[in-house]
Amino acid sequence: MLDDLKGKSAIVTGAGSGIGLACALELLQLGCAVMAADINASGESEVRERAAAIGGGKLEFIRADISREDDVRAMVQSAVDAFGRLDGAINSAGFGPVGHAVHEMTSDEWDRNLATNLRGMFLCLKYQISAMRQQGGGSIVAISSTAAELPILRGAEYSSAKAGMNSLVRVAALENSREGVRVNAIMPGATYTPAHVKSLEAVPEQIEVVKALPMGRVAQPDEISGMAAFLLSDRASYITGTSIPIEGGILLV
Ligand SMILES: NC(=O)c1ccc[n+]([C@@H]2O[C@H](COP(=O)([O-])OP(=O)(O)OC[C@H]3O[C@@H](n4cnc5c(N)ncnc54)[C@H](O)[C@@H]3O)[C@@H](O)[C@H]2O)c1
Repeated sequence: MLDDLKGKSAIVTGAGSGIGLACALELLQLGCAVMAADINASGESEVRERAAAIGGGKLEFIRADISREDDVRAMVQSAVDAFGRLDGAINSAGFGPVGHAVHEMTSDEWDRNLATNLRGMFLCLKYQISAMRQQGGGSIVAISSTAAELPILRGAEYSSAKAGMNSLVRVAALENSREGVRVNAIMPGATYTPAHVKSLEAVPEQIEVVKALPMGRVAQPDEISGMAAFLLSDRASYITGTSIPIEGGILLV
């Protein structure tokens, strides 16, 4: 169904774990060449081992911290150098809240989260859009969160970053709609990854939210990556500026 991704190229940030890893594997399976990026060097062996088991498109890995402009510039340039062009990007790198209420949160904790989750996303869009405009088009997916719409107890820095991300995506989509560059967000709800386990430790009250999930279970990462691949493909050619929830119905209750 997503045959057009075969032979295309994409960057996946946060590709060493969780949702980013699932997205990288999904694209490789569809025959897309992937520049996998992660701040964590151990992400390389993780994604390479899993990719070896499925075959498919070409895989390159680059260590990059998306909060650092030089790293993001180099990440995008490496993808263009390795594959000749950049057709897509799935930006999943990020992390959850520290678990402090607004009045207890330090400004450093606030800054640290926004430096990656919001400023890092801005840097990724800036360089990815530039590359895509030069070649006449592309598609970008930002992994946001339902936290952009549902307040997370003791997660103000995270909810604010994700709400800002949805806004950033809408503006970038509008600015590039005549340039052939589509920009969308996905808002996953609770998804079973190492970060999810950590965020339940930081905010134990979230366990009650998980128990109240209408579908009675959290998502698996490949329930997010399927939509990300669809948004990169030509099947989504008229979709831009949206923030699509994948959340087992939590926004209904
Ligand atoms: N798991 C969930 O329940 C859930 C729900 C909603 C949204 N999300 C979002 O999905 C995305 C992926 O989360 P996940 O659950 O897969 O987490 P994860 O911890 O399993 O994976 C995140 C990856 O991003 C990398 N990373 C972190 N900071 C980075 C940086 N500055 N530069 C480059 N790489 C960096 C980490 O090393 C890690 O490999 C995040 O943006 C998260 O906010 C997750």
